[in-house]
Amino acid sequence: MDSLEKKIRSKEAKIGIIGLGYVGLPLALSSAQKGFKTLGFDIQSKRVNLVNQGKSYIKDAPESELQKVVKSKKLSATLDYNRLAECDIIQTCVPTPVDLNKDPDISYILATSNEIMPRLRKGQLVILKSTTFPETTETVVLPILEKSGLKLGKDFFLAFSPERIDPGNTQFTVGNTPTVVGGITPECTRLAYLFYKSILSKVVAVSSARVAEMTKLLENTFRNVNIALVNEFAQLCERMKVDIWEVIDAASTKPYGFMPFYPGPGVGGHCIPIDPYYLSWKAREYDFHTTFIELSAKINEDMPYFVVNKVIESISEKKVCPSNATVLVLGVAFKKDIDDTRDSPAMKVIEILSPKVNKLLYNDPYIKNVTVRNVKYTSVPLTIQLIKKVDCILIVTDHSNYDYKCLVNNAKLIVDTRNATKGLKGDNIIKLGC
Ligand SMILES: NC(=O)c1ccc[n+]([C@@H]2O[C@H](COP(=O)([O-])OP(=O)(O)OC[C@H]3O[C@@H](n4cnc5c(N)ncnc54)[C@H](O)[C@@H]3O)[C@@H](O)[C@H]2O)c1
Repeated sequence: MDSLEKKIRSKEAKIGIIGLGYVGLPLALSSAQKGFKTLGFDIQSKRVNLVNQGKSYIKDAPESELQKVVKSKKLSATLDYNRLAECDIIQTCVPTPVDLNKDPDISYILATSNEIMPRLRKGQLVILKSTTFPETTETVVLPILEKSGLKLGKDFFLAFSPERIDPGNTQFTVGNTPTVVGGITPECTRLAYLFYKSILSKVVAVSSARVAEMTKLLENTFRNVNIALVNEFAQLCERMKVDIWEVIDAASTKPYGFMPFYPGPGVGGHCIPIDPYYLSWKAREYDFHTTFIELSAKINEDMPYFVVNKVIESISEKKVCPSNATVLVLGVAFKKDIDDTRDSPAMKVIEILSPKVNKLLYNDPYIKNVTVRNVKYTSVPLTIQLIKKVDCILIVTDHSNYDYKCLVNNAKLIVDTRNATKGLKGDNIIKLGC
């Protein structure tokens, strides 16, 4: 039996994970819990130190569980790339943002591949997990690794396996969410499949890394397009005085062929607003324009502007001049019950709204400070006095621990972009899409 296969089957394979963030840390925890010695790599010494102390900074990697695997020496972290040589399987989970022109920024993938290359040794399997455009594994990572002089499929193996983690989702976690994997060669796929099979509940092998890369982009583009569709419906419903939320609830009773998506102040996070741009950028190389992606991006990116206009109009209707008004934004995380503000639509809303009003405040139980266009905002305590005092409360993120009944009973005006006040009545509530 091939030695890497033997090591995977006996759980003697050592796992390296580069990038200990929202994806990497839960993944590291999962492989350590399944009995694999796991070594995390990061460039942030603070994160490395925290992991080594068993302290978690990512909600999906609970501290109590992290402590157990650190104590049992199944998991540790390092800043030292030379220790990549100790690892039999190396997974890369580094960021893949877009630049100011919304073009892919794969500098993190390039940097990590260049760190792996001089340390690559026979028998290693490298798996790229960062979301990226199709062909990255084959045309970007592979040529870098081949500079080591080692031969793919004989000396080392390379695969792509997209991450599907949904931060804050307690029903579907790393362990019980099926994972797709595609290698550059069939042997690469086989080994990557074997490894994931030993730590995850379900693994789906596909014929190539390109298919795996494209699968992830289809999944996220699907969400982006459908959110854009309901955002457009919401705007039309508003004009026609039809309640979009009631419409979605009714449509959801259809037991097949419909899946609910909800309108909101825009899309956020490190995936949905970004990944489709990776695909549209790559498509241009093939003289192809991804019309759906462009259209959805336009609709979703217009939503913060739409919401701000709604706030300004609603304040004016209360006979308050917006330039004298105080607005309290509730929730700045990109979705409810998480502490991640990356690409949150709240940032855009704050940026557009703050010059139009006298004072803009925010509260988020999970996020102490945010900086928008070089202005630092600090979360204010959500007291009853504040709720009564401000001219408008704008619900951007519908965290579960807000007392919406109390808000409705005491606020002068609420603009609700998430249907957080569902079931509550009050002529102070203005809802998006109604
Ligand atoms: N966050 C999600 O929900 C999610 C879900 C699925 C896929 N993804 C994809 O996974 C990838 C990682 O996303 P994330 O949310 O975990 O990012 P993150 O920012 O939370 O974590 C990335 C980590 O990589 C580290 N890092 C950066 N450069 C490094 C380097 N050269 N060497 C070692 N470490 C380095 C950072 O310090 C950070 O700790 C992205 O491609 C993203 O699109 C994210």
